Amino acid sequence: MANISKPDVRPANPRFSSGPCAKRPGWTLDALSDAALGRSHRAKVGKSKLQQAIDDTRDLLRVPADYRIGIVPASDTGAVEMAMWSLLGARGTDVLAWESFGAGWVTDAVKQLQLKDVRTFDAPYGEIVDLSQVDFDRDVVFTWNGTTSGVKMPNGDAIPANRQGLTICDATSAAFAQDLPWEKLDVVTFSWQKVMGGEAAHGMLILSPRAVERLESYKPAWPLPKIFRMTKGGKLIEGIFKGETINTPSMLATEDYLDALGWGKRIGGLDALKARADANLAAVEAYVAANDWIGFLAKDAAIRSNTSVCLTFTDPDLVAQSEDAQNAFAKGVASLLEKEGVALDIGAYRDAPAGLRIWCGATVETADIEALMPWIGWAYGEQKAALKKAA
Ligand SMILES: Cc1ncc(COP(=O)(O)O)c(C=O)c1O
Repeated sequence: MANISKPDVRPANPRFSSGPCAKRPGWTLDALSDAALGRSHRAKVGKSKLQQAIDDTRDLLRVPADYRIGIVPASDTGAVEMAMWSLLGARGTDVLAWESFGAGWVTDAVKQLQLKDVRTFDAPYGEIVDLSQVDFDRDVVFTWNGTTSGVKMPNGDAIPANRQGLTICDATSAAFAQDLPWEKLDVVTFSWQKVMGGEAAHGMLILSPRAVERLESYKPAWPLPKIFRMTKGGKLIEGIFKGETINTPSMLATEDYLDALGWGKRIGGLDALKARADANLAAVEAYVAANDWIGFLAKDAAIRSNTSVCLTFTDPDLVAQSEDAQNAFAKGVASLLEKEGVALDIGAYRDAPAGLRIWCGATVETADIEALMPWIGWAYGEQKAALKKAA
């Protein structure tokens, strides 16, 4: 049964967007007061901040010492496409998709790069592809956590340590919330705006030694724009991985990322960040377990995201309705919650099945998730009552 009256408790912070995500608890604009504004990013002060962002990322994510970490243009998309355009084509490629961002990488490989030897694997929303069918002696492009379906890789077990191909992993909604098995990953990308609640602007591109070897030994058949170029004269441009960005970065966004990383360290590092996301998911799970009209898009808990948590309405009366009607219902629930000021931006992604998506990453407080869930029950009840009246 859904709630009938409005719950007494409201989330202290109604921001549950899947990106840009909520700022860290306690964040104010004062956190940016030390930003190197109006200074050159090539000056000592600017460069040292960019280098600090790289070093702190390495510490917090426990990136191996022999992996390069670069700050690149155009957020996560920039980082993924830079990797795809620079590395693919040397051998066959498998591209995997279980939601719309993964599907975007399929489009890049098939329609834009027009790779000659490419296989694609996709799974419907809520499921993951059969990883046993993937050939890791080919290059493999995939998303660790599908932000629009709430489905994540269960672990890296399917990826052989002695693979011949490179694994190119879009980890933008996984980094800082889920374990990333570095020895299984050759390229890892993410942006600042997700789990750490930073500003969107720059992408992080992390390369294994094998990825660097490919960059230095392989020249793609297509032209590379300047913002994708990581080598010069067949050698890696090492400066990119020491804070010498290809083009001008935002020092304001950089300061904000440094603040977020500092917060992550202060609260206990990666384990604490992961634990916060896990606790948030657990709070949603407890509510879902107690209510039969709502369920997870990812039914299998082993692949259920602890960041972009996607819910569907499972009430048989609703499920029997058309897709449009289900979408309208779910949108109605989200907009009621927004009107009440208890939840902003929790409608499902535009291409995903009807439902809600609640960001549960580390910057979100568990008490806010706990306060939100009964409100969803209330809004659901209101929408159902409106439906009945209209019938
Ligand atoms: C899995 C995934 N990949 C790529 C992107 C694109 O990221 P950005 O907008 O930071 O480039 C997103 C954004 O939400 C995402 O969730």
